[in-house]
Amino acid sequence: MLSVALVSLAAASTAYGAALAPRATCSDGTVVSNAQCCNFIAVRDDLINDIFEGQCGEFAHSTVRIAFHDAIGFSTSGGKGNGADGSIIAFGTTELGFAANAGIDEIVEELQPFADAHGISYGDVIHFGSSVALSLCPGAPVVQTFIGRGNATVAAPDGTVPDPFNPVTQILSRMAEAGFSSDEVVALLASHSIAAQDQVEPAIARSPFDSTPAAFDSQVFLETLLKGTAFPGDGAHQGESESPLPGEFRLESDDAIARDSRTACTWQALALDQALMANKFAAAMAKMSLLGQSKPSLVDCTEIIPKAAAAPLSKAFFPAGKTLADIEQSCATQTFPSTLSTQAGTTTSVAPVPEQ
Ligand code: HEM
Repeated sequence: MLSVALVSLAAASTAYGAALAPRATCSDGTVVSNAQCCNFIAVRDDLINDIFEGQCGEFAHSTVRIAFHDAIGFSTSGGKGNGADGSIIAFGTTELGFAANAGIDEIVEELQPFADAHGISYGDVIHFGSSVALSLCPGAPVVQTFIGRGNATVAAPDGTVPDPFNPVTQILSRMAEAGFSSDEVVALLASHSIAAQDQVEPAIARSPFDSTPAAFDSQVFLETLLKGTAFPGDGAHQGESESPLPGEFRLESDDAIARDSRTACTWQALALDQALMANKFAAAMAKMSLLGQSKPSLVDCTEIIPKAAAAPLSKAFFPAGKTLADIEQSCATQTFPSTLSTQAGTTTSVAPVPEQ
């Protein structure tokens, strides 16, 4: 009888979750729906102040990247790791040796001691941390954010993280194996709006993927569609492509996904609609942070994630010197419209993202 009563209570609290949600007041006065979120207020503030230094800079960017590399070690049919579990830190001696994880060691050096000092799991520091990082990037959405992951028990195997020189079919099929549609892959690539590379072409380290790497905006989708000029690097590395602006770096995979018939129309749609981009990204990112996790055993602490400032401009623009004529029309069913304006002035070089 007792267990039946408990089951019905649980069912009632699921059905009327909002009305019955318990509230707790944290020591700083914040009211939360679950007391476990109180501990994460200090985690949030220390991440912002001590790791990210209050900026949408290198460490905020790398925390969003590590969230992907950790979570994607997963397959819906099993046998590929346990997803968003922090295994990339817990089993760093294995996973950080994989070629696709090159450069991730730097953010692990920050996040691992931070998680140990705060007594939180590596899965939580990565996936909670990614949402906090995004809150520093103007234009970024609030991503639904959970805490309470246990410690990872197994390393992800090599080959789960896509490489920039993989063909589109290979990238889409790896992502599909982890449960993502091609539209969700494009949405996740909004992350390349706040991104730079070090490892693909070290000769031009910290070169960003769009002209506004400190803002979560749709410039990356627009600028990837521009015709490029020959890449000035040493050509020693695969994965590089042409870049439309001096100082900017375009991944071969972004170039190809922007032009592939399976993804080009979604890519163009996100270039043209920043709000759509932010919404689709938030949904796909929240899904990614739950790969391999049992959602009912986690606690939703989204309410303590700060809301990012608005992006400086609500629409993408053509960088100075570029116009609609520079677009490589890639979506077969909709012509790129003539609604976007061109930034005033002459073409300038895109500055590297400073090292932290
Ligand atoms: C699906 C195919 C993807 C490929 C081939 C890819 C590849 C890359 C590469 C090669 C870099 C440069 C790393 C370096 O040289 O330091 C990079 C950076 C980055 N990626 Fe991706 N990526 C993909 C998807 C994603 C996803 C799904 C996310 C997150 C949701 C993500 C987030 C980032 C971020 C934030 C950076 C910048 C890191 C920094 O500036 O420190 N990427 N990506």
